[in-house]
Amino acid sequence: MKSKNQKIIIGNWKMNPASLKEAEKILKNISNSLSVKKSKVVVCPPYVFLEKISKVSKKINLGAQDVYPNNLGLPTGEISIEMLSNLKTKYVILGHSERRSRGEDNLFINKKVKTVLSAFLVPVLCVGENERDEEHSYLGFVKKQLEECLEGIPKDLVGSIIIAYEPVWAIGKNAKREAEPEEFEEMSIFIKKVLSDKFGSKNIEGINIIYGGSVNPKNALSFVKAGADGLLVGRDSLNPEKFLEIIKIIENEIN
Ligand code: PGA
Repeated sequence: MKSKNQKIIIGNWKMNPASLKEAEKILKNISNSLSVKKSKVVVCPPYVFLEKISKVSKKINLGAQDVYPNNLGLPTGEISIEMLSNLKTKYVILGHSERRSRGEDNLFINKKVKTVLSAFLVPVLCVGENERDEEHSYLGFVKKQLEECLEGIPKDLVGSIIIAYEPVWAIGKNAKREAEPEEFEEMSIFIKKVLSDKFGSKNIEGINIIYGGSVNPKNALSFVKAGADGLLVGRDSLNPEKFLEIIKIIENEIN
């Protein structure tokens, strides 16, 4: 649930780093110099590092990058919510565009959102258009993602979800360009409207809408000033110096 002055900064390590040793080193380097009073810091490493890494720092919350929506059993190669709950995982990224591009649809992501909520963990639901067009059809695209991914979610639980707006064209080192803070602001107002129409304005008061896509120390503050409740950081969350700088900038802003 949203606390007025708290911002959430989530690091998405994706398929990095190559070894546990390196993962521990990155987390230690972040943790050793981390001083936060008002921001919440979350790191989402690959599954294989989650257990060991949970012992490295008490200051950093842990998240997973995905979950499979079945209970224990099948299929081969997947990770269940029971497994994540038994580690110290509190957050789960869902519907990331890099997974959507490999075939995950809104219906499947909807099952995952329900699975995560049923275990009292926090879903970080990623939405975002592939491209912006002058006719503004990207708004309809994000609306559909929100409506379908959140279909059937109990109204009293919707406030605990984090929505990460991540325009696909602004993600990663092949991004077309960085997003402008005004573009986030417009989308965040739109997301609130869609959710409020679906769940009622009272029920969505607690929802955090964060920004992700090429977040770095130079642009981080502009998104928070544009109303972001936090940030989802990819590449720069693997670089302790840059990640700490982003956290410090946000922490100073809200103090
Ligand atoms: P990026 O990744 O910060 O490297 O653009 C963000 C994300 O994909 O979540």
